[in-house]
Amino acid sequence: MLNRNYIALALVVATLILACTHETTGPNSPANTPSFSTTCSSDSVYFVSEILPIINSNCAMSGCHDAATRADGVQLTSYSTIMKYVRAGNAARSELYEVIIETDPGDRMPPPPRSPLTATQIAKIQKWINQGAKNNSCGSSCDANVFTYSGAVKPMLDTKCVGCHSATSPGGTINLSTYALVRTVALNGKLYGSIAHQAGYSPMPKNSAKLSDCEITQVQRWIAAGSLNN
Ligand code: HEC
Repeated sequence: MLNRNYIALALVVATLILACTHETTGPNSPANTPSFSTTCSSDSVYFVSEILPIINSNCAMSGCHDAATRADGVQLTSYSTIMKYVRAGNAARSELYEVIIETDPGDRMPPPPRSPLTATQIAKIQKWINQGAKNNSCGSSCDANVFTYSGAVKPMLDTKCVGCHSATSPGGTINLSTYALVRTVALNGKLYGSIAHQAGYSPMPKNSAKLSDCEITQVQRWIAAGSLNN
């Protein structure tokens, strides 16, 4: 009698262990612990440098999905909070992806009047989820000797700033979505002052980690060379 109970218990335990081993999504599974590779592969999408900045500047701002507002109970400020809406390996079945590709403006995120994410941003999020939605980062691919507008400044602004600084959401009335407007804040000192966290300027990107020294140097060199549309 006692033996039979032990066998039943052993079966239950074995089933639970198997069930847990097969669990691949969720912030606590081993696949999702932070991972770092010294070199950045162009085939991979990285959460820390590519995905989180897009979400920070398009979703996690005040009034939307930051910790204070939590619109609809949804907070998107960290890997673990974001993963509640992601099915690792399956973008099509991830709520985070479904709402950004939604064509009905009433259901789309970010909602109107904000612009939808760009096709490039959507493709990045899709690829990151399908690659396993890892909490991954890599050594910097930033090269301080590259400091053209198209090769360095604009891609950085598009990823880390434009979500809060576009025509439809001009944080502090500043729009960073066109060259002419970026040039204005480059010339009046606000662009460098804010990203270098100089006294007298609001530190940017707001509510996110400071840009890397390399990114700040790129902007500084671009401005010093005349803020050209190059
Ligand atoms: C989460 C939203 C958000 C993000 C992301 C963000 N900003 Fe801002 N930014 C704001 C808001 C809001 C203001 C108005 C001032 C304030 O509230 O601090 C502002 C102000 C500024 C100003 C004016 C600063 C001053 O002192 O007059 C500049 C320049 C600026 N941002 C540049 C940037 C750049 C460059 C990035 C990306 C590296 C960026 N911002 C990312 C929301 C954001």
